[in-house]
Amino acid sequence: MIFVYSLGGSILAGRDAESLKEYAAALKELAAEHQIFVVVGGGKIAREYIGKARALGASEMFCDMIGIGATKINSALLVAALGDAAPQEIPDSYAGAAHLARPGKVVVMGGVAPGQTTDAVSALLAEYVRADKIIVATSVDGVYTADPETDPSAKKLARMTHQELARMAAGTEMKAGSRSPVDPLAAKIIERSRIPTAIVLGSKIENLRKGALGGHTGTEIRSG
Ligand code: UTP
Repeated sequence: MIFVYSLGGSILAGRDAESLKEYAAALKELAAEHQIFVVVGGGKIAREYIGKARALGASEMFCDMIGIGATKINSALLVAALGDAAPQEIPDSYAGAAHLARPGKVVVMGGVAPGQTTDAVSALLAEYVRADKIIVATSVDGVYTADPETDPSAKKLARMTHQELARMAAGTEMKAGSRSPVDPLAAKIIERSRIPTAIVLGSKIENLRKGALGGHTGTEIRSG
């Protein structure tokens, strides 16, 4: 099967070399049986650098370019951790990523174009390579009905539809304070392609496998 991971930048950047190796080993193991693509986010460096550049008066477009740079630095760290299991190249395009795919190898990429986030890159890459599933490995353990930190009645959803995800991302349906796990463009792409998607806590290594093959405690997004 073909799996595309959207990996939050903060999930990698906080790890030491040993822990990065363990994370990479889990991806390698999956790549022995499946074609794996990983799109890495910008995490803390992106936020920090964009914040400073914005304060210095940089344009939003320029801030996006800084963000893309951060995603590539984080991608390079994962490539280093994967060693022989990854092509030593971070593609700048979807076609470039597809061309790098080989049995047993994990293709890693970051951002490609301003005005979006790596969630959208993952969704578009998943369309392009006709992925069986997108796994959003992020800093939350699933999609909630409201913000669990401020609303004690918030409940985690085990399942939701593509349409519900798109509505949540567009901010039209859910109560204030709720958080969408993906950006609106990514949600729209996932909706139009109806690609099965899992939202899982990325810091748990076992969720890489479970997000793809089942058994996780996050949220599954399927056609309604
Ligand atoms: P992320 O995908 O990490 O954004 O890209 P995020 O959702 O803010 O971060 P996480 O999920 O918490 O880690 C970081 C920034 O890089 C730029 C955007 O400015 C984005 O906010 N970016 C990324 C682009 O402009 N285009 C891309 O294709 C990807």
